[in-house]
Amino acid sequence: MRYAAITGWGMAVPERVLTNADLEKMVETSDEWIVSRTGIRERRVVGPNDSTTSLGAAAARQALERAGITAEELDLIVVATCTPDQFLVSQACLIQAEIGGNAGALDLGAACSGFVYALSQGSVHIRAGEAKNVLVIGVDTLTRFIDWSDRSTSILFGDGAGAVVLQATDEPRGLLSTVLGADGQGHKHLYIPGWGALVPESAELFPEFRPYLQMNGREVFRFAVKAMGDSAAEAVRKAGLDFSDIDMLIPHQANVRIIDAAADRLDLPREKVWVNIDRYGNTSAASIPIALFEAEASGALKEGDNLVFVAFGGGLAWAAGVVRWGTAGVGATDAPA
Ligand SMILES: CC(C)(COP(=O)(O)OP(=O)(O)OC[C@H]1O[C@@H](n2cnc3c(N)ncnc32)[C@H](O)[C@@H]1OP(=O)(O)O)[C@@H](O)C(=O)NCCC(=O)NCCS
Repeated sequence: MRYAAITGWGMAVPERVLTNADLEKMVETSDEWIVSRTGIRERRVVGPNDSTTSLGAAAARQALERAGITAEELDLIVVATCTPDQFLVSQACLIQAEIGGNAGALDLGAACSGFVYALSQGSVHIRAGEAKNVLVIGVDTLTRFIDWSDRSTSILFGDGAGAVVLQATDEPRGLLSTVLGADGQGHKHLYIPGWGALVPESAELFPEFRPYLQMNGREVFRFAVKAMGDSAAEAVRKAGLDFSDIDMLIPHQANVRIIDAAADRLDLPREKVWVNIDRYGNTSAASIPIALFEAEASGALKEGDNLVFVAFGGGLAWAAGVVRWGTAGVGATDAPA
């Protein structure tokens, strides 16, 4: 069997820090409210010199260096983002222009679930023998679409990028199972109007047009608790494992209460759950690869560990997967591509 091991990882966040105290000066809110309802204390926000391209490219360079390969050796780049710098051309091509090479380059739109969807996409190419080296990037700059006077959304989001390199191996490493799902009917609970082919010519023609992220927080919360728990449990079952086999849950960082509910569903003690939402807020498609990067840097991950990635978000979509950590057998595969 051919698998897609994660052999490189990287992350990048903007320098600018926006604390809850800063938000207290912008809207009627309090550090106490934000921390108790979400777990967030601060987030990173793009400045004039940052972009989805610059953050994505910085994370990608780190991941390539860690994997010990160059961009020229990549067969495919998959970028998960809902905040591309532009729609034509793809975000993947814009990042490729920065890092080099001629790999196939495609974007994947699954909002906050995007990284797990993209990991699945990249892994499928390797497992099918179509690719040997794939770069998967999760990057978002959602603060560009935040109405800073709306306290129901402005407290939640931050910007960032994370990337991983996938490489072929004959050992069971990388994604062992995947659960992807969506409820398109729920699209109206979390979305950014406009900016697409339906974009109104002017606000006068379309008085409801507001180019900012719109969210029904309570509805998304209810959906998230169920989607995270159900899909994570299903991914563990599909991998042929028990909850007790899981070494670390690396969840999408949207709300610490949602993360706690997912951990309870898998019977996991808190030391087996990676949480960094306090420092980054919700970075959308970047949140899982950033959390993965920090978990590895802290020494929390060992060769052969079983990790669970699980995410939910706009769509409304969800995604989960069991990942066996480590690089056993990489380079030993003689399968084509
Ligand atoms: C947004 C969220 C934190 C709100 O928490 P909540 O416990 O549901 O709070 P509610 O929306 O019920 O609001 C409770 C009260 O706090 C108020 N409130 C809302 N935002 C506030 C803020 N930033 N500061 C202070 N008060 C606030 C509300 O107006 C409401 O007041 P009221 O009771 O007088 O009407 C929560 O619903 C959530 O996390 N939802 C999921 C969102 C998400 O993850 N989105 C991204 C998906 S990828």
